[in-house]
Amino acid sequence: MKKIEEAEVIFQPLGRRFIIPIGESLYLAAKAANVESLCGGRGLCGKCRIIIKEGKSLISSPSVSEEKFLSKEEFIKGYRLACQAVVVNAGKIIVEIPFESRVGKQKLAVLGMEAKVELNPYIKKYFLEVPSPTLKDFKPDFERIIEALKLKYDLNIRRINYYALKKLPMTLRSSEFKVTLVIKAEKEIIDVEEENKEKELYGFAVDIGTTKVAGYLMDLNNGKVVATVSMMNPQIPYGEDVISRISYASKNPLNLEALHKTIIDGVNQLIKEACDKTNIDSKSIYELVIVGNTVMHHLFFNINPKFLGSSPYVPTLKSSFYVKSKEIGVGIHPEAEVYSLPLIAGFVGADAVADILATEIYKLKEKALLIDIGTNTEIILSNGSKLICCSTASGPAFEGAHITHGMRAATGAIEKVWINPEDLNPTYKTVDDEEPRGICGSGIVDAISEMLKAKIIDFNGRIKTEINNSRIRKNNNTIEYVIAWKEETAINKDITITQKDIFEIQLAKAAIYTGISILMNKFNVEPKELSKVFIAGAFGLYLNSESAKTIGMIPDIPLNKIIFAGNTAGSGARMALTSKKIRDEAENLVNEIKYIELAAEPNFEHEFASALRLPHKNVNLFPSVRKILNF
Ligand code: FES
Repeated sequence: MKKIEEAEVIFQPLGRRFIIPIGESLYLAAKAANVESLCGGRGLCGKCRIIIKEGKSLISSPSVSEEKFLSKEEFIKGYRLACQAVVVNAGKIIVEIPFESRVGKQKLAVLGMEAKVELNPYIKKYFLEVPSPTLKDFKPDFERIIEALKLKYDLNIRRINYYALKKLPMTLRSSEFKVTLVIKAEKEIIDVEEENKEKELYGFAVDIGTTKVAGYLMDLNNGKVVATVSMMNPQIPYGEDVISRISYASKNPLNLEALHKTIIDGVNQLIKEACDKTNIDSKSIYELVIVGNTVMHHLFFNINPKFLGSSPYVPTLKSSFYVKSKEIGVGIHPEAEVYSLPLIAGFVGADAVADILATEIYKLKEKALLIDIGTNTEIILSNGSKLICCSTASGPAFEGAHITHGMRAATGAIEKVWINPEDLNPTYKTVDDEEPRGICGSGIVDAISEMLKAKIIDFNGRIKTEINNSRIRKNNNTIEYVIAWKEETAINKDITITQKDIFEIQLAKAAIYTGISILMNKFNVEPKELSKVFIAGAFGLYLNSESAKTIGMIPDIPLNKIIFAGNTAGSGARMALTSKKIRDEAENLVNEIKYIELAAEPNFEHEFASALRLPHKNVNLFPSVRKILNF
């Protein structure tokens, strides 16, 4: 009899069943059962915690990474990390998903500041009633319609693609010579449709972020968004940041194909969702515009991103790009094209170009700064006539990764924190006002700023263990501050900010400030000279600017100069979808912006070390923070 080489795994309380072959971990099944994961199953985040209720002997012994993230007591209770727990024997395994590991409904910010553009899309429709041929008028069909186009719309069209040409004779006659022509760039007919279909003209704009993907279905007749959809980037299981995705894709062509297919499937899913919501046929979508960082751009187009991963970080191309939707498997009109805005450099992609277009920083005659905070943060500085930019690896800490009780901005995440300097007791607010489950990026920035103000930590970020307060304690080998006691939380555990968490945030904020300060030095700009600071990106929307300033993440400028711009990458994509002129402007822009490679800057290390301090080694750069902190 053939030996059974699989285990049946049941996830409670959902009751979902999976068959997992021997040798595979529980990770993919756990993901499907909505278990949290921030590192793509690499054993780095410690978030995919599950409890094995039955079948412990069918699972591998704990890995080094589990020893790091789980305590002895937790092992006794059956806790494991799903991505590390490998099935070693066949049989039945019952798994419980603890509350803290369940993925909550996440806040996905999809809207952002947007500049007004004149509606002039790349694809347009023209309805024509053409005279039918007679013995006296026997012009061929194509000549007949181009003559009518000239007469009615003053258009000089000379080209028709093969798809439309094949349809032309039958469509003309089946609709009694009343047809709608779909015309690309006022140059080429790409489809001929029966009757008047002018109203059915849609486009889809997509912003592909490393963590999130947002899509916008737009009516190209009026430039309005008819549906907005979003999802977590489905490539996350392959790695949470661009570097891990580059290394995965570079290993072999199959890996690259897998990453490419995953994002194409994700975009198709968004298109379907938007069309289902609005009852619009996906074949009425005649163009797709994408923006994303350079790695997301390369993976979307199935271009190997290998050379973006090592110095001198060269992209395959910088200019804008068109490809037929059917060539890369996007499920819209078969003759539609996919357009990408141009890129600036290896780590400053089309998303940054979209940010620049949406905020119109390039049109300002004053000094201004644009920061798009993400796993990679793009920074653009204007001196009133020129733009300069850089990219900095701020890491995923603001997404809650690498933070002990970190989580995404989902239900139950502590998002705002205040600390009473007298008794050091905190007050907090959670997403959806639910019992706390963890702390998200904006909450951590707030907490560290408040800890600094309440003098719980010093300027090096060190927790002052000499303070006699029950919230400041040594737990195993960790020094931590308790934000929420076990009794208040939904996870039946204290939620704390550890010394290591503070250091993670110091690294992230120092990376951002270093980029800003190197750009400001290049243009000789002082913080007080900045007329505006745009903070873009979903995380930026929830950030408390006062706290960001207090910890030295952004320059010390009056709060009324800070503009939270939201998801401007999505806005820029929508602008490019509705305006050909914007595409030309983008093309000119990227040739004028100067890119600074931070790693090649001689003062990078010095600047970074100075920016690690809270708020900064040179406290004179933060006069208002100095006043608040009284030093
Ligand atoms: S440790 Fe398992 S997903 Fe991160």
